[in-house]
Amino acid sequence: MKEKTILTGIRPTGNIHLGHYFGAVQTWKKLQENGLPFYLEIADVQALTDNFNQPEKVNKNVRELAIDALSCGIDPEKTTIFIQSMVPEIAELTVFYSNLVTISRLYRNPTVKAEMKQKRELFGENGESITYGFLGYPVSQAADITAFRGSLIPVGEDQLPLLEQCREIVRKFNHIYGEVLVEPEAMLSDTPRIKGLDGNEKMGKSLGNAIFLSDSEELIAKKIMGALTDTKKIKKDDQANPDVCMVFYYHKLVNLNHLETVCSECKNGLRGCVACKKELIEQMNTFLKPIREKRNYYLEHPEAIDQVLQEGTKKARAVAISVAQEIKEHMKIRYFE
Ligand code: TRP
Repeated sequence: MKEKTILTGIRPTGNIHLGHYFGAVQTWKKLQENGLPFYLEIADVQALTDNFNQPEKVNKNVRELAIDALSCGIDPEKTTIFIQSMVPEIAELTVFYSNLVTISRLYRNPTVKAEMKQKRELFGENGESITYGFLGYPVSQAADITAFRGSLIPVGEDQLPLLEQCREIVRKFNHIYGEVLVEPEAMLSDTPRIKGLDGNEKMGKSLGNAIFLSDSEELIAKKIMGALTDTKKIKKDDQANPDVCMVFYYHKLVNLNHLETVCSECKNGLRGCVACKKELIEQMNTFLKPIREKRNYYLEHPEAIDQVLQEGTKKARAVAISVAQEIKEHMKIRYFE
C-alpha cells in the first residue's frame, strides 16, 4: 500500500479562535505525531477569491495564522507549513483542471452556493455578480490537494462537497490522461462544531461571538462576562440548567477537572452566574497562557516565522514541481528536452 499523505488548508482571513482550535488544530496536532507526511497550506490565493479587494488583510493574516499555528503546537519539524501563492505549480494545475469541470457543476456545488449567499455584498443578491475566480475555487482546491498527492484531508463537514468535486476531477483526469492522480479521502473531525458566546451554533469572527487565541486577558474577561447563561435564572441562588448555558459549555472545554462540581452547584442553585463566569475566566486564561507566551515570543521574533514559512514553502514547492512535471508529461505538454 502506498504511504498516505495528509494535507489540509486554511484561509488567512483572521486569527484562530476556539472554534478552529477545538474543531481542527487539535486534530492536526495529533496527526502530526503519526509520522505521515503532513502539509498545512495557508491558502492565500483562495482567500483572495472573496477578499480580492482587501489584499492587505490577506497579507497580514498569512503571518498571523502562522504565528497562531506555531503557538498552538504545530511543529514545523513535523508539519510542512507553506504559502499557496508561493507554489505557482498549483495555479498551473488549476488551469489544466478547469477543462475537466463544467460551469453548471460548479454552480451546483453546495458549499459554493451557501458561501455565495453569505457574500451578497460581493456577488449580488442572487449571485448574479459571482466571479470566475470564486465560482472556480473548488478547482483550485483540487490543485492544492493533488499537487502534493494528498490522500487524507482533515476537514469540517462543510468541505465535503469540495472534496467530492476534487475526486471527480481526479477520476476524469486519470481516465483521459492515465492513472497519475490520487483520489483523496476526507477525514472528518470527531469534535462537533464549537458554539459561540451568544449560543449561536457556530463560532465565527463575523458573528462577533468568538474567543480568539490572540485575545488579551482583559478582553477574555469582558467577553465571558457577556456570555449567554440560562435566561430563566434570575437570582444567584436560583436553580438552573447548565445545558442551555454557554458558560458551562466552555467549562466543558477548559475546566475538565472541576466539571461535576460546576454542574451540580449550578443545578442546585449553589453557584451564582458571576462567580461561575469568574472561574471560567481564570480557567480560560490558564488554558491560553502557554499559547499566549509563545505568541508573544513569535511576535518579537518575526524572523523565526519567516524562516518557517520559507523553509516549508521550499520543501512543498519541490514536491509540487515534480508532481506537475509528471502531470504535464501525461498531458503531452512537453516540447523540448
Ligand atoms: N476551503 C478550506 C476552508 O475554507 C481551506 C482549504 C484550502 C483547504 N485548500 C485546502 C482544505 C485543501 C483542505 C484541503 O476551510
